[in-house]
Amino acid sequence: MENSQITLVIFLLFGFLVSANAVYNINVVNYGAKTDGRTDSTKAFLTAWNLACSKTQSVKIYVPNGRYLLKQITFKGPCRNNATSFKIDGTLVAPSYTVLGNAPNWIFFYKVTGLSISGGTLDAQGASFWACRKAGKSCPPGARSLSFNFGTKITVKGLTSINSQVTHITINNCNNLLMQGLKIVAPDDSPNTDGIHVQLSTGVTITGTTIKTGDDCVSIGPGTRNLWIEASNCGPGHGISIGSLGKALIERGVQNVTVKNVVFTGSDNGLRIKCWARPSNGFVTGVLYQDIIMRNVRYPIIIDQHYCPGNKNCPRQESGIKISQVTYRNIQGSSATPVAMKFDCSRTNPCKGIRLHTVKLTYQNIAAKSTCLNADGASTGLILPESCL
Ligand SMILES: *[C@@H]1O[C@H](CO)[C@@H](O)[C@H](O)[C@H]1NC(C)=O
Ligand SMILES: *[C@@H]1O[C@H](CO)[C@@H](O)[C@H](O)[C@H]1NC(C)=O
Repeated sequence: MENSQITLVIFLLFGFLVSANAVYNINVVNYGAKTDGRTDSTKAFLTAWNLACSKTQSVKIYVPNGRYLLKQITFKGPCRNNATSFKIDGTLVAPSYTVLGNAPNWIFFYKVTGLSISGGTLDAQGASFWACRKAGKSCPPGARSLSFNFGTKITVKGLTSINSQVTHITINNCNNLLMQGLKIVAPDDSPNTDGIHVQLSTGVTITGTTIKTGDDCVSIGPGTRNLWIEASNCGPGHGISIGSLGKALIERGVQNVTVKNVVFTGSDNGLRIKCWARPSNGFVTGVLYQDIIMRNVRYPIIIDQHYCPGNKNCPRQESGIKISQVTYRNIQGSSATPVAMKFDCSRTNPCKGIRLHTVKLTYQNIAAKSTCLNADGASTGLILPESCL
């Protein structure tokens, strides 16, 4: 072969390799999605997803600026590639709660591996649903805005979620999931609008996220392992809560949770562990709370193992959940009530291995209080309020 032929062969070969590895681009507008916020774009998004899911190469689904009305939608895997991404510049808008009906999830990713979502706003328009509940009418249960079930290797970056009907984001039975730079917003008085709920999942990381909502900023359910929350803000809201746990007799435990460099502002709770006063085989072990700032938080540090609303169905009024190895390191700021630190543990399963290292919580510029029940542990460094352990 001549040199020029060799060059041509190399050129063609290179071109072939590049195209085989190239990202396949899909723009939802080309599949019929409308940017007016009123025309139903569900079918267009599903067509785009099914096409993406059938490709063996990486796929990028692009959602341009604009408002897209989506009814309940399930993005189902597994896909033929483990490399689909959504780049969202627009806002996804939910229909009225009467249209969503009894659907438990609005946008639902099921059995998806290797997904990344960046940007975008989810507007669930929850106000009319909250009004229905407030009026005591018979309302549907409400839909979570974004849910992942049986997902692996998923990243969500820079997403905004506003006014969910109930929980904004749920992570259920997932592995290896990163949420970075999210903004989650609903009014302080919107009922059950938790920010992020995690359960039965391993390796979830939440960083750089701001949550202002009407219920828990993050709620951590049974079967959560290796959870990492860092550099985030909470409040208004009900704090970062492990629980409620122990509602069921047989329940998976919570293990290895780190909450680091988080600021709580005007929230009901800061760092909370909450258990039903009921028999259960569950547990909480290996929790580290570090470098936390409280600004006017009602219950900055609280373990409550006597949760039993209405005192119904709690035969022994004690929790079966075993709590151990919970460390509070460098927790500072202000409490909005006199009891800044409360360890209200189970008589049948006392808390073990609670460690305090440098805690400085004030109440209106006077010393706050701490209370302990069935709690065992140790403290080092300055502890204010004085430790009751
Ligand atoms: C995608 O990931 C799953 C789970 O790890 C694996 O079983 C499957 O073979 C992967 N598929 C592709 C196309 O890489
Ligand atoms: C605890 O979880 C973190 C991630 O949150 C992980 O890096 C670490 O290895 C886990 N530790 C153990 C002992 O599993």
